Amino acid sequence: MRDLNSHSAAMSGDLLAWYDVHARAMPWRVGPAERTAGARPDPYKVWLSEVMLQQTTVAAVKEYFLRFTSRWPTVLDLAAAEDADVMSEWAGLGYYARARNLLKCARVVAEDFSGSFPGTYDGLLKLPGIGPYTAAAISSIAFDRPETVLDGNVERVMARIHDIHEPLPGVKPVLKECAAELTPAQRPGDYAQAVMDLGATICTPRNPACGICPWRDPCAARVAGTAAELPKKTPKKPKPTRHGIVYLAESAEGTWLLERRPDKGLLGGMLGWPGSEWNDNPVPNPPFEADWQDLGGEVRHTFTHFHLILQVRTAELPAGFNPAEDQELIPRHSFRPSSLPTVMRKAFDLCKGS
Ligand code: ADE
Repeated sequence: MRDLNSHSAAMSGDLLAWYDVHARAMPWRVGPAERTAGARPDPYKVWLSEVMLQQTTVAAVKEYFLRFTSRWPTVLDLAAAEDADVMSEWAGLGYYARARNLLKCARVVAEDFSGSFPGTYDGLLKLPGIGPYTAAAISSIAFDRPETVLDGNVERVMARIHDIHEPLPGVKPVLKECAAELTPAQRPGDYAQAVMDLGATICTPRNPACGICPWRDPCAARVAGTAAELPKKTPKKPKPTRHGIVYLAESAEGTWLLERRPDKGLLGGMLGWPGSEWNDNPVPNPPFEADWQDLGGEVRHTFTHFHLILQVRTAELPAGFNPAEDQELIPRHSFRPSSLPTVMRKAFDLCKGS
């Protein structure tokens, strides 16, 4: 591993000069030119985008971000929103605990901080749903503090610059030190975004574009010819497969029977179809007695820790059906399949396509 200490300032300067020309445009971003002209990022937008970007790509987030900010332009608006409205706007983004924490956080910022986000890493870290990555990202991007921002892109860039072959996740603290050493006191917010952009556009997982990289000279992995192999990762355990059954019932007038899932647990707080538990051999538990028809196909969906295969059964919802407390009858004209989590929307698509 090379000692880059003496090069750090020159390296961050080279990267910022690259960012001044190549910064990606993003709806939540104040680009380098606007920043020079005096514009400052809105901490609410930085926070919202960073929470959305956890585990999700920039391309997938843009549309959600624009919908959220047009419906709830400030953190005070979001804090006053109905839980169910926020959950249904979030539907499709996945990792639904993020949405529940998002609302909790908005309400804490509204009530305890009069709607102004704290600017320090420690202050941000105390808020619901804000972990070390997000606290550092908000503090640096929105408040221009020299915090060390380490996401998957930055890890890859650091492993390559130093030609580090020890595998993730164990090597993470080493990569964080490397990242800290390079973080400049000048323009730390632009710098944080610049490293992430570099990782996303040039120092990509496969086929990195080393020839046009602003860090090609100091990059030890480029010299060694190992860039495309890095970072190494400890192999993950294969995911188990679970099975389940969902029940889609529509009345003759077009009303659907849905169920709000408990706040805790997977897809917590989201609307979905009534159904069985998910395990090796699910026990049928239809929401009412009927001649349930199996649709034949199956829905496949992958969560963080397992694959899921769902059978889809349908029946007509009887007139006068009396929903349980966690159930909702939603008439066709107000039913939006996009307000369902993806796995539940796939079951709906299978039903409508059959
Ligand atoms: N990925 C997550 N946050 C980002 C940001 N602020 N800029 C670029 N890529 C990102």
